[in-house]
Amino acid sequence: MASDSSRKSSLKPSSRKSFLFPSVVIVIVGIIVALTYQSKLKPPQPKLCGSSSGPPITAPRIKLQDGRYLAYKEHGLPREKANRKIVFIHGSDCCRHDAVFATLLSPDLVEELGVYMVSFDRPGYCESDPHPSRTPRSLVSDIEELDDQLSLGSKFYVIGKSMGGQAAWGCLNLKYIPHRLAGVTLVAPVVNYYWRNLPLNVSTEGFNFQQKRDQWAVRVAHYAPWLIYWWNTQKWFPGSSIANRDSLLSQSDRDIISKRGYTRKPHWAEVRQQGIHESINRDMIVGFGNWEFDPLDLDNPFLNNEGFVHLWQGDEDMLVPVKLQRYLAHQLPWVHYHEVPRSGHFFHFTKGVVDNIVTTLLTTDTDTIRQ
Ligand SMILES: *[C@@H]1O[C@H](CO)[C@@H](O)[C@H](O)[C@H]1NC(C)=O
Repeated sequence: MASDSSRKSSLKPSSRKSFLFPSVVIVIVGIIVALTYQSKLKPPQPKLCGSSSGPPITAPRIKLQDGRYLAYKEHGLPREKANRKIVFIHGSDCCRHDAVFATLLSPDLVEELGVYMVSFDRPGYCESDPHPSRTPRSLVSDIEELDDQLSLGSKFYVIGKSMGGQAAWGCLNLKYIPHRLAGVTLVAPVVNYYWRNLPLNVSTEGFNFQQKRDQWAVRVAHYAPWLIYWWNTQKWFPGSSIANRDSLLSQSDRDIISKRGYTRKPHWAEVRQQGIHESINRDMIVGFGNWEFDPLDLDNPFLNNEGFVHLWQGDEDMLVPVKLQRYLAHQLPWVHYHEVPRSGHFFHFTKGVVDNIVTTLLTTDTDTIRQ
């Protein structure tokens, strides 16, 4: 307990993480840019789906309490037939169509395990309305409302991939909705270098593991979010690699992508159809911003083993540093950590992996968990 409280009383993030920061540089660059490019700083209004100049609405959508619409897509067995319901949270630059944990799941397993899955467009993506004030917590509320409106029942499973980790970690926060969780799987969830309980040496190592261009984009998203639209759209120097669809990937990821060919293409344009700012940029601002909580402070929501939390991570992931994930797994012993050897960020596209991940989430009991 003593060590716990000293851990929690660490210094303010701004002073402690100043290394990540050259905030002075960013402010100076920001002022120069602001004076020179005033008109280019402000992102254009998002093109709302269904508005006169916006894209058409093709997906079913629910209306949330605050008036926003959330688009979703259902997979697997019909709701009323399924006995296991999963909510899937997509990563950056993806949408409800990227629910690979449903689309690559073998039909036999869908039947055998009685699986229903719903994926949704996170705010600002594809056909969901933007939510400029979104946070990890508000994403959890969106999920809860989706669950209620679709009458999925009192308990559901959650799978969060990559940037979807911001909401998946939120679901694990005891103060939000864990009484509704049956189990949670995080797949290569993005680690926020600014979580205040990450020791300086660990977060520095993870931060420096990124490409230089992404180090800068992350700093801007954190310290000067008002500059990130310009940063990611200007052509003078490279902005975020995700925003520019130009990320450095491991050989294993490149092999997977070249084998899969153009299967993502049908909805590639839809992902950012409302604009880059409330989708990709907002993900960065939220993902690397100051969170309402720190995952390292979380307690196991399943004290009686009534559910489990799994974290899967490839050891050659070039987007999410494996070392940070190992640190997290070590600090949170109730998270069942599965490190996949010789694998990158997209290892779940390898044949059989989705079956393994979903089966593990839905069928683990105390006997099958080691330790
Ligand atoms: C960080 O520092 C601690 C304490 O000095 C040390 O035990 C740990 O191995 C270091 N971790 C890394 C990743 O350098």
